[in-house]
Amino acid sequence: MGIGVKIAGVGYYVPEKILDNAYFENIVDTNNDWIMQMTGIQERRMAAPEQATSDLGILASKLAMEDAGISAKDIEYVVHHSVTPDMIFPGTSCLVQHALGIKDAGTLDVQAGCTGLIYALSVGYAYIKAGLYKTILVIAGDCLTRITDYEDRNTCVLFGDGACAFVLTATTEADSFKSFYVDGDGSFAELLSQPCSGSRIPATHEALDKRLQYLKMDGPNTFKLAVTAMTNSANKVLKEANMDSSQIDWLIPHQANMRIMESVAKKLKISEEKVVKTIHKYGNTSATTLGIAFAELVKEGKIKRGDNIVFVSFGAGATWGATLFQY
Ligand code: ACO
Repeated sequence: MGIGVKIAGVGYYVPEKILDNAYFENIVDTNNDWIMQMTGIQERRMAAPEQATSDLGILASKLAMEDAGISAKDIEYVVHHSVTPDMIFPGTSCLVQHALGIKDAGTLDVQAGCTGLIYALSVGYAYIKAGLYKTILVIAGDCLTRITDYEDRNTCVLFGDGACAFVLTATTEADSFKSFYVDGDGSFAELLSQPCSGSRIPATHEALDKRLQYLKMDGPNTFKLAVTAMTNSANKVLKEANMDSSQIDWLIPHQANMRIMESVAKKLKISEEKVVKTIHKYGNTSATTLGIAFAELVKEGKIKRGDNIVFVSFGAGATWGATLFQY
């Protein structure tokens, strides 16, 4: 048997501050009924002013390392995903590496919108599978509230902050990951973006006056594409693993909208009790939603070793993908 890859530990962190729906009723023309009915969101978390994305990832990583029973010296590579890095450069992976006291380890930042955790896990997986490293820390962290426009009712109610971390290790036992599928299509780039401040539109006064530093989303078209792409992605990983949806213990879809999750689960014929939902309490925290939902259920003892799990997501790019693994 070749090298297998195992999830040795997981952790998550969400900030303490809660924004409930009543908060939004006071700042934009919205109401609790619309938000609940259209999105399923009741609350979301907001990072403290002194917290940046790396701070959330550091806390999640410490828990994942503790869960795996490893220390900083064991980690050979750090993969970090975010759409809201601390700075455009240096990479947040370097900041997290240093803060955790990890030495002599590669650092890599990946960016694939809300599908980013699946992309980041696939990178860590491939490195271990290729025999390059034995222990890799994979993190997804985001402070979406820092790029949310609190004057735009179409988007401001949706997003929150959080982070998750995974310790992947080489094993001589069977591979935990049964299949990966990642895909994308840049022709959908304008569906969801933060126009400023990259090299296309630098952070000038003019750009900021137009509020281009904030996330822009074409919600209805994102919705339609997300349902199709997520359903196809989940079907692809099931097929590659030679499994059908009845063999799945937990479907963990990206937590962007309750209606998207229900629609995907229905198309996959996966019963409601197997679909993990955290959107009501954390909102959409970008690529971290999958890992937060997974780590929370592991912590609560609901997800057990041996369970078959599908992560499936869709995000800016557009990107989409899924992975099927046995925890
Ligand atoms: N409160 C009250 N009314 C609102 C609000 C609000 N917060 N936001 C929008 N509306 C209004 C709109 O103005 C519109 O009014 P109009 O008919 O008078 O013009 C009406 O509600 C319907 O708006 P739509 O945008 O057409 O509603 P839709 O059914 O598409 O729901 C939503 C909007 C919830 C944003 C939905 O489109 C969605 O979830 N999209 C997908 C998002 C997604 O999947 N993202 C995932 C990938 S990206 C990522 O996660 C970062």
